[in-house]
Amino acid sequence: MTPTPHPFDPLDAAEIVAVVAAVRATGRLGEAAWFSTITLEEPPGVDITTRPRRARLVIVDGPDASVVEAVVEVASGELVGWDVRDGVRPALGFHESLVAIATLHGHDGYREALARRGITDLTQVQIDPWPTGSFGDPAEEGKRVARCISYFREHPSDNGYARPIEGLLAVVDMARGEVLEIIDHGLVPLPVERGSYLPADHEPHRHDLRRLDITQPDGPSFTLDGHVLRWQRWSMHVSLDPLEGLVLHDVGYEDGGHVRPILRRAAMSEMVVPYGDPDPAHGWKNAFDVGEWGLGRMANSLTLGCDCLGEIRYLHATSADEHGVPATLTNAICLHEEDVGILWKHVDLLTGRTEVRRSRRMVVSSIATVGNYEYAFYWYFYLDGSMELDVKLTGILSTKAITPGEATVHAPELAPGLAAPVHQHLFCVRLDTAVDGPINEVHEVDVVPMPPGEDNPWENGFEPVRTRLDHELAACRDVDPARSRTWQIVNPTRQNGLGRPTAYKLVPGSSPTLLAGEGSSVSARAGFARHNLWVTPPAPDERRAAGDHPNQHPGGDGLPRWTEADRSLADTSVVVWHAFGVTHVPRPEDWPVMPVEHCGFRLAPVGFFDANPALDVPPTSHCH
Ligand code: CO
Repeated sequence: MTPTPHPFDPLDAAEIVAVVAAVRATGRLGEAAWFSTITLEEPPGVDITTRPRRARLVIVDGPDASVVEAVVEVASGELVGWDVRDGVRPALGFHESLVAIATLHGHDGYREALARRGITDLTQVQIDPWPTGSFGDPAEEGKRVARCISYFREHPSDNGYARPIEGLLAVVDMARGEVLEIIDHGLVPLPVERGSYLPADHEPHRHDLRRLDITQPDGPSFTLDGHVLRWQRWSMHVSLDPLEGLVLHDVGYEDGGHVRPILRRAAMSEMVVPYGDPDPAHGWKNAFDVGEWGLGRMANSLTLGCDCLGEIRYLHATSADEHGVPATLTNAICLHEEDVGILWKHVDLLTGRTEVRRSRRMVVSSIATVGNYEYAFYWYFYLDGSMELDVKLTGILSTKAITPGEATVHAPELAPGLAAPVHQHLFCVRLDTAVDGPINEVHEVDVVPMPPGEDNPWENGFEPVRTRLDHELAACRDVDPARSRTWQIVNPTRQNGLGRPTAYKLVPGSSPTLLAGEGSSVSARAGFARHNLWVTPPAPDERRAAGDHPNQHPGGDGLPRWTEADRSLADTSVVVWHAFGVTHVPRPEDWPVMPVEHCGFRLAPVGFFDANPALDVPPTSHCH
């Protein structure tokens, strides 16, 4: 007997087998049909414990631009939805990517282009299939296309990105295994340096790093019950979605004997990496790593002492492969506590008495490898009721070979004959908020100078100015660091002990917006990245900021389309979408592997509590 799953538990192996059998039994699928994603169809708000569990399957049944979205009741196998969506593509398939590579291996034109560069041994060629974007090329219409970039590895353990086979692009119909076009922009010599980051190539190693052990002899302070995590009054359900990666449900904080809700659901809804080099061999690059690849599909199995240090617990992630067969990624989500310096402190100068408390945080993390890049996602929860999302970017830059000394401002030089185009990493997190209950509104709060006048005789005055964002178009906002702009998620129906509405504020961090021009393809496709804040009323089918199927999509879907309706944001639940990220001008220090770069944001209580909620954190005994 398996225990009754939590309503938000991902499908287990038996459920995946059952729903795949159910859709096959309909007789509607061909032999070659494959499964892009098979996930829990999350129950809507009200009937989460009573509605039978359902699965949503995104099925690819032919070589055209078309997917089937099927919904199946898990226990009965009953088909409750079958929607054929033409003109859209799923995320790039792993097996189709292999087809693209094999197709190029067998293609004379591709091999001739390599031979012009003196490369004849295909085992020395690394081929990276990329999402091709959407530039209105009629040859790509109705097809699932990858644009393939090639790199040279003299030895199998070489860093391919050190030696781009510059100028050579191959456009491949992945589903049919046909080369559509070999594009050769001309020869550039292979860079000479190997760009190795392997330990043997960097000896002698520094020898003065002594052991640093994290020990918790009594075990960690959190408990894990299935997917439900409880730590220091925080509670939440944690899982991994194939596309969105980490998903948190029902994030709440226990206060006064009951759990006060904060977020109903939180996940990365989309991200885009637009490149800013107009070079025809690189200007087409923009990757939507959620919708075109999938942060959960690309997640790493994490290693103790390497990815996470200390007293670690893991969650494994079971998902369906493209044949519909369940597979389990062990150690997919890492759970642990970290010491983070002081939580609060004061020295009473009259008595000399010191009170100081240590801060620690609960960390929920997952790391995805998407081609050359690593994206590591860390949700942090603190003792003072605040929480944070920290995205760490590392891995290897997307590179190009140049004639030595001929770097442009669009692609700074990394090593002799090697450069990397400027680019952005723009994330859009989706926060289905529930601060103290379902009815929330969003206020923009700027801190501004008071005008001079009788009530401001010293002209020192400044004040927070609050604007309620009442409709979707008015809620399309950008950061303003000079005014300390924050966005408060307010519950107008609940009051704190001071008679004020309870709230959490979103404190933005590094938050560039899209730099590509308004007429660009990526601007149409990644409209979500043109603003830092969007607010929508909840709608179960509005999950992903660039729409459900961004791969090769011409654009206009997702947040810009939904918010055109300018729906009211009053007396409703709200979904807060926050776009943030990094504009990356590559440095020599980012080569050959990039030290971690950070971006993210913080959610902090504002009148959610009546006072510092961490006064009851006990002093560490030897500090007194
Ligand atoms: Co970067």
